[in-house]
Amino acid sequence: APDPQAQPALQGRSVVVTAGGTREPLDPVRYLGNRSSGKQGIALAESAAAAGAQVHLIAGIMDVEAPEHVANITVERIETAEQLQAAVGRRAPEADLLIMAAAVADFRPTSYAAQKIKKTEDGENPVITLERNPDILAETVQNRRSAGTGPGVVVGFAAETGSAEADPLQLAQAKLLRKGCDLLVLNQVGETLVFGQDETEIHILTSPTLAESSAPVTTLRGTKHQAAEAIISAAAAYL
Ligand code: CTP
Ligand code: CA
Repeated sequence: APDPQAQPALQGRSVVVTAGGTREPLDPVRYLGNRSSGKQGIALAESAAAAGAQVHLIAGIMDVEAPEHVANITVERIETAEQLQAAVGRRAPEADLLIMAAAVADFRPTSYAAQKIKKTEDGENPVITLERNPDILAETVQNRRSAGTGPGVVVGFAAETGSAEADPLQLAQAKLLRKGCDLLVLNQVGETLVFGQDETEIHILTSPTLAESSAPVTTLRGTKHQAAEAIISAAAAYL
């Protein structure tokens, strides 16, 4: 039976969750975006708050309402990857746990047109050139290593379809090592899988440095709230 005196897993902890997609403007009326719904990130913020944490939710573009007036959750809105980078940079150093559930655009248009881009009479199609956005997750892990401050536990996400050469789990194992985060949550994605859905299948991968053995993997199929609870308890175990 559960101990009624037991502290909730994240009692007194400070948690930062990023959620939703970023939006990279092309001109005043157009942007590059992605299909993140924000549901998994919101479920994580709610689970962390339910586990006793003070939660700061950094919310990008989402299909659903952010939990704006919920006890122990504060919400900050961002649109671009650069705004997300700044918000994480301000908040992560003081957090015990950072969960990067946001779908960050890897690229942004190289230039922003201050006026709406118009069709021209010469029949030429416009060419959009892109440049890399900062890797916020990798940067946070590097800052923690170099400055010795920052979240005790950093959780990354990976949405993978797999390829001819590697299955999604292999890609996620490689990403976990490349990013240097402590836990990595793998979602297998496709046209009808995961994005915008309430049900999900996740694999939680643990960094070999944390687990002191070959990285163990937890697999769970259920609602995004059940997935969030599993991720929160996995993260809490390493705090
Ligand atoms: N992420 C980030 N900054 C970026 C891109 C991604 O912080 N510019 C974070 C995401 O929030 C997620 C993790 O990194 O937690 C993995 O994102 P993903 O897109 O799967 O990884 P990438 O390194 O961008 O690899 P890929 O080329 O497969 O998109
Ligand atoms: Ca990416």
